[in-house]
Amino acid sequence: MNNLQGKHIVLGVTGSIAAYKAVDLASKLTQAGAVVDVIMSHGATEMVTPLSFQVITHRPVITQVFSPLAETEIGHVTLAKQADVFVIAPATAHVIARLALGLADDMITTTALATPAPMLIAPAMESHMFEHPATQQHLATLRARGAAVMQPGTGHLASGAQGVGRLPDPAAIVEAIRQLLGRGGDLHGRRVVITAGGTQEALDPVRYLTNHSSGKMGFRLAEAARDRGAEAVIITAPSAQPTPYGVRRVDVVTGLQMLDAVMAEIIEADALVMAAAVADYRPAQASTQKIKKSAEAMTLELTRNPDILKEVAAARAQSALLQNLVVVGFAAETENLLENGQKKLIEKNLDLVVANPVPESFAGDESQATFIYRDQPLKPFALQPKSQVADRVWDVVAARLRASIQR
Ligand code: C5P
Repeated sequence: MNNLQGKHIVLGVTGSIAAYKAVDLASKLTQAGAVVDVIMSHGATEMVTPLSFQVITHRPVITQVFSPLAETEIGHVTLAKQADVFVIAPATAHVIARLALGLADDMITTTALATPAPMLIAPAMESHMFEHPATQQHLATLRARGAAVMQPGTGHLASGAQGVGRLPDPAAIVEAIRQLLGRGGDLHGRRVVITAGGTQEALDPVRYLTNHSSGKMGFRLAEAARDRGAEAVIITAPSAQPTPYGVRRVDVVTGLQMLDAVMAEIIEADALVMAAAVADYRPAQASTQKIKKSAEAMTLELTRNPDILKEVAAARAQSALLQNLVVVGFAAETENLLENGQKKLIEKNLDLVVANPVPESFAGDESQATFIYRDQPLKPFALQPKSQVADRVWDVVAARLRASIQR
């Protein structure tokens, strides 16, 4: 589920030239179902008009502490109480300093003092201002008080220079907000490992064997886990999917590399969800030079890759540390989907198998999953977005983890 739905976001906009990008941020948040109340500093109103935000959010915009609006249902105390997250984007060096000092000299700083909501700061300024010890100390102070501070981007700045100080991409700010909202989620404090993508097995320096996996299911799983409070690690074979904000990404290429990464990452994990399409075979010998064409036909010799889930099952049987690891596998099949899924559940000692038919399971944004459990009848789901399938997977994992604590 989209965890922004119905959430109350207070968005403080300050006077950086990047203020215009905050209009896009307000739009993205509103489209995701959040209620967005915008507070603008005086400087911000010089860059963008309050009307731009009002049209996007369908809410009045506050620009002053003492205004007729401040005495209504969107006065600073009410806003502070209602806020689920207080975001300042873009945050200038000036507002960062005032927040660190606890000043209350405008509506943004006054609301910041009055709210118990988690705070997210997205700085945007010229590089020297960002790197100045004063700004860095103020950011450290705010972090120490529990604020989440995003790293600004590097590139072209309004001054014409290149450097650090660009407002993070509004899409990344939305993800950072989702992560903050997840702090109270049912995977809070849990460490989960997800695999994604199709491995590539080299034939020579130019060619490789692979499959059609897009990595989408794994990346949706990682985002959904983050949004429920988990610390998520994604071990991914080459995939065009961007790294979700707040998720740690481990890039691998081959099945053997994925095996090593999974074994290293599960040691302190609570759950492993294997959504990757790992090659079952790899070329017996990868040529160091490009293979040249000669004969009319050629035969490739392939060697079995290890089955990662079976290796995990074997490790679990040996190690007390891995006893409570919840393990989920995927089954993508062109035929006998459910029978094959049941077999995998037993052979790989899984808590859950997500069975889905090829080709949707690979390339599409949606999937028609059937959940195969150890101790319950199987459950078919209608075709739904992979983000929703991901949430249903975490429902099962969270319930398993709760049950293992009670045991
Ligand atoms: O046996 P099959 O490849 O159909 O099983 C699919 C499940 O097993 C998926 O969860 C996949 O990530 C995992 N797998 C694995 N190691 C392999 C092949 C698949 O862990 N070598």
